[in-house]
Amino acid sequence: MTAIDNTLLTDIEAAIAAAPDATAAMTQAVAVLKARLPHFTWAGIYLLEGDTLVLGPFLGKPSPHTRIPLGRGICGAAATEKASIIVDDVHADPRYLACSIETRSEIVVPIFAPGPDQRVLGEIDIDSDRPAAFSDTDRVLLEAVARALAPRLA
Ligand code: SME
Repeated sequence: MTAIDNTLLTDIEAAIAAAPDATAAMTQAVAVLKARLPHFTWAGIYLLEGDTLVLGPFLGKPSPHTRIPLGRGICGAAATEKASIIVDDVHADPRYLACSIETRSEIVVPIFAPGPDQRVLGEIDIDSDRPAAFSDTDRVLLEAVARALAPRLA
């Protein structure tokens, strides 16, 4: 696994810490990720409201999936399984809900509430127009971003 870009992570953590509220923190995180990682074609954050993931700040083409029930999509699977999911070929995954016809691969990383109970607050969702765009390095970076966001969302 390639080491994560600690300068990038530090910049995102600083942007999250400086944000005045939760929406600004999510907007900042999405903006820095999308600007600095060219394989991130679409970047957004869903927040869990009851049994539904509701789209919050995002950059990229508007998605038709602004509300995703927990049982649906890669997004629903990651929240239900409480685990990060990398899909190398979205067209080969029957769970996939299409956001854009150009999308080829996807990574979804849950955001857990601080503390021991692993409650899901939401998730970071990234799409790429490249097949198999996401590596373990992306997963580790996004899980660190999720940990930085969690206290702002809890
Ligand atoms: N592809 C996601 C839906 C969200 S859009 O990618 C923005 C899924 O399968 O859950």
